[in-house]
Amino acid sequence: MTIDNLKTPRVALGTWAWGDSGEAGDGYFGSRLTQASLEEVAEKAHAAGFTLWDTAMVYGMGRSETTLGKILERYARSDYQLSTKFTPQAAGTSDDPVADMLEQSLARLGTDYIDLYWIHNPADVARWTPHLIPLLKSGKVKHVGVSNHNLSEIELANRILGEAGFRVEAIQNHYSLLYRSSEQAGILDYCRNRGIPFFAYMVLEQGALTGKYSPENLLPKGSRRAEAYNCMLPQLKALTDKLASIGEKQGAAAPDVATAWVIAKGTTPIIGVTKPHHVDGLIRAGSITLTDADIAELEALADATDVSTRGWWEKEM
Ligand SMILES: NC(=O)c1ccc[n+]([C@@H]2O[C@H](COP(=O)([O-])OP(=O)(O)OC[C@H]3O[C@@H](n4cnc5c(N)ncnc54)[C@H](OP(=O)(O)O)[C@@H]3O)[C@@H](O)[C@H]2O)c1
Repeated sequence: MTIDNLKTPRVALGTWAWGDSGEAGDGYFGSRLTQASLEEVAEKAHAAGFTLWDTAMVYGMGRSETTLGKILERYARSDYQLSTKFTPQAAGTSDDPVADMLEQSLARLGTDYIDLYWIHNPADVARWTPHLIPLLKSGKVKHVGVSNHNLSEIELANRILGEAGFRVEAIQNHYSLLYRSSEQAGILDYCRNRGIPFFAYMVLEQGALTGKYSPENLLPKGSRRAEAYNCMLPQLKALTDKLASIGEKQGAAAPDVATAWVIAKGTTPIIGVTKPHHVDGLIRAGSITLTDADIAELEALADATDVSTRGWWEKEM
């Protein structure tokens, strides 16, 4: 069996926060997003050629997928790619919970195929991975990846898919200046050596690494991200100041430099875009040059923060 190689973009767009929009959001980000402003985000992204959208059923329990599907309705399906996920921890009890969750995602996204379908968080790799095979064969899923899997789990998933003529085509893990476990565990090298794209998520640490938030301007009250990051904002200042000063010399801002750093490490950032101007940042990030000295200095400042930004759903790699 042959499969088309996944076309990896320079940057992908994340929509977890879109699950917050409207009245029924779960409040993870505490963002007040409007349909009109998200439409503008999509329009700017489309115009700039950023076409891969990442979501998951569990982002606002369907709300992110529904919002995204509605907004993308105006574009030709061939003009964008959809990335969504099967989350074992939220699986139903039918004979095939993976196929069921996929069907629900397809309906919410208003499409009949997903370009890139992920096993979201590893639960029982040997149990869940085989369920992807019929979805690949039917064409409802074009490519598959695994997220938050460690090296041995990646290899097991790859072996299971390999027996049916498929393979793990992408990896998606938390990777930022403040969280480099995939690099330390050899997953980045594994991907580089095998030509597997590595998608980096939470590159901006949900806003904490943008320099916008500080002890004087905390993350939105009552949100889960405020709980996770407000306490560490004082320690992040030297790093975000350095990101800003590197950016300033190149007509860019701190988050653009944080994004450029993960690109320089050979990964594809998935950036959670909530405002139209965030797309401008992604365009700028693509033309930032970081010297070896810049990279070393940023990493040293990141290490000196001595904070742990591991998500509650993440394990040691
Ligand atoms: N596989 C997984 O387990 C997993 C886990 C987490 C995330 N993800 C994926 O990765 C994506 C990215 O992660 P994330 O959204 O959690 O966090 P993120 O990308 O680190 O941060 C997103 C936040 O940063 C701020 N921001 C974005 N661009 C900015 C810019 N140019 N200037 C200033 N602020 C900017 C926005 O905050 P404000 O709204 O406050 O402005 C936005 O909500 C998610 O949307 C999701 O698709 C996957």
